Amino acid sequence: METKQFTTDEIDQAAELIRKGELIAFPTETVYGLGANALDARAVKQVYAVKGRPSDNPLIVHVSDFEMVKNYVTDIPEQTKKLVDAFWPGPLTLIFNVRADAFSTTVTGGLKTVAFRMPKNEKTLELIKTAKLPLVGPSANTSGKPSPTTAKHVYHDLHGKIAGILDDGPTQIGVESTVLDLTAANGIPVILRPGAVTQERLEQVVGKVQVDQHLISESEAPKAPGMKYKHYSPDVPVWIIEGDQQVFRKAIEWAKNKNQRIGLFADNQVTKIFSNEVEAVFSFGERSVEQGTKLLFAGLRNLDEQNIDVIFAQAFPESDLGIAYMNRLKKAANQKILKIDSIFE
Ligand code: TXA
Ligand code: MG
Repeated sequence: METKQFTTDEIDQAAELIRKGELIAFPTETVYGLGANALDARAVKQVYAVKGRPSDNPLIVHVSDFEMVKNYVTDIPEQTKKLVDAFWPGPLTLIFNVRADAFSTTVTGGLKTVAFRMPKNEKTLELIKTAKLPLVGPSANTSGKPSPTTAKHVYHDLHGKIAGILDDGPTQIGVESTVLDLTAANGIPVILRPGAVTQERLEQVVGKVQVDQHLISESEAPKAPGMKYKHYSPDVPVWIIEGDQQVFRKAIEWAKNKNQRIGLFADNQVTKIFSNEVEAVFSFGERSVEQGTKLLFAGLRNLDEQNIDVIFAQAFPESDLGIAYMNRLKKAANQKILKIDSIFE
């Protein structure tokens, strides 16, 4: 199958293909999604097939307004309106109890709940409105690889397997939406996946919000099925560097002693200092967690294509957006962190 690149003037064509059961990747403010008609079980099956995604991992249904959600859920918890008013369109996915006949089990992974999100991208909202359908939209990458933040990343992973890609340039945020479960018996919302809408921002709007225990202690099983899988991983092993230049220096010496070719993902100060000592660098620019997050997946993908043996990636403090950044980076690194007091052997 030839994968067509649609410009933002060709939304009618893309919507028509969606209505026919084809797969079209779409832009959002977080990462690119792999779109298909959420009401067409065959199309949804195809989404799992082209991604190579485990079938117990449910999908997020993308809508163009909250009205669409009402058709598919059994109840709407009281905090919903405040959350939707404050954060939609935006990087917040909300989980509701699903109506029994609303979606095939391919969408929900057989759970009694379903996830919804209204993405903040004009073109994708237009695509949903034109197709007049809710769209499933997992990140448009091969399962296990870093999520795509450009149309080129999508093409790299999925060309030949999907009908088209709607290109609207690089995404703004760079990591996937916050997933918030509204179905707990005690009524307290629970964060299942950290994203750009942080616990602090949520609590300002709806009061107490909890965080899934798994995100705090690794021993608990995660409630969002997708969080248990190995994720965001380049083929090249990644180590997180926590600390300043000294730690980068020690890590570089350590790898050189083992004759390893090194790639760095860091701010421009760090990459400047070490660019002559390593084989590849990817700078995310100034040292800000917004910049680091925006370019994390692009950086990991870029370095993965170079001829290197190890990637050293800069840590950020685990507060605000840093929680989402470190959550994704720790998965990419398989939790491996080098600190100043680590033993470099
Ligand atoms: O930003 C995003 O959310 C992107 C863009 C494209 O919208 N989409 C995305 O989809 O990240 P995906 O499929 O890669 O991740 C969906 C996450 C998974 O961790 C999944 O387990 C969880 O949401 N999820 C979906 N439905 C759920 C449910 N009913 N209960 C618990 N977790 C659910
Ligand atoms: Mg994903």
